[in-house]
Amino acid sequence: MLSVEEAIQQRRSIRGFKPDPVSQEMILQMLEAARLAPSGSNRQPWRFVVVTDAEEKKRLRQICLDQAFIEEAAVVFVACADLSAYSKEAGLRRSQEFIDFRVELSGGFAKALERFADPEVRKLAESAPETDLRTVIAPATTNTYIATEHLVLMATALGLGSCWVGAITDYEAVKTLLGLPENVVVIALVTVGYSKSVPPPRPRLSLEEILLRPLPSAT
Ligand SMILES: Cc1cc2nc3c(=O)[nH]c(=O)nc-3n(C[C@H](O)[C@H](O)[C@H](O)COP(=O)(O)O)c2cc1C
Repeated sequence: MLSVEEAIQQRRSIRGFKPDPVSQEMILQMLEAARLAPSGSNRQPWRFVVVTDAEEKKRLRQICLDQAFIEEAAVVFVACADLSAYSKEAGLRRSQEFIDFRVELSGGFAKALERFADPEVRKLAESAPETDLRTVIAPATTNTYIATEHLVLMATALGLGSCWVGAITDYEAVKTLLGLPENVVVIALVTVGYSKSVPPPRPRLSLEEILLRPLPSAT
C-alpha cells in the first residue's frame, strides 16, 4: 500500500478502466477511509451508494454528460449527504458526544459546551425550533467532499485509478435511480477501477501562487 504522501503525489484522474473487478475487500477499505474523515462538529453527513450493476452505471453515464468511463469503471461510488445529520436532534446528540468523550474544546466552543452541560440550558436547546435543513446544504456538501477525497486517496494507495465526477446534469434522476430517501442529496460520483493507463500530472499552481503572503521565515 502507498503512503499518504505517495498516494497524493501519484493520484491522477483516470478516465479509462480495464474490465477487471475491484474486490469487496478494497471497496470496504475505501469506504473505511471515508468513514474516518473529520467533519464539523463530527456531524458525518456523508453517505455512499456502491454501484457495480451494469445497467445502473449506464444510466449514471447518461445522467453525467455521457462520460464513457463511468460505465467502464468497476465500481462507482455515489457520494451523498444526509441533511438530517444536521437536525436539531442530531445536534443534541453530537453535543452530548463531546461531553461523553471529554473532548478538550477551547475558547467559545468550550464555553458553549459547558453551558450545554447545564440541564436548564439543555432543556432550552431541546425546545428550540427544528433546523431548516435547506440551510445546511453547504456544510453537508463540504464535509462529504472531505470524506470522498479520503476514499479517492485510499483508491490510489490500493493501486486503483479513480475520477471524481461532478458533471451531474440531473441530481433528482440519480436519486430516483438509486431510490434515495428525501433528506439525502447527491453530491458527486467517484469512478474506481484498474487504470488502462496513467496520464502525466496535470499542471498545478506554484507554491508562490497559492500563498497569499510570503511564508514566515523558518525559526
Ligand atoms: C469536484 C470534482 C468534479 C470533477 N468532475 C469531473 C467530471 O465530471 N469529469 C471528469 O472527467 N473529471 C472531473 N474531475 C476531475 C478534474 O478534471 C481533475 O481533478 C483536474 O483536471 C486535475 O487533474 P488530476 O485529477 O488528474 O490531477 C472532477 C474533479 C473534482 C474534484
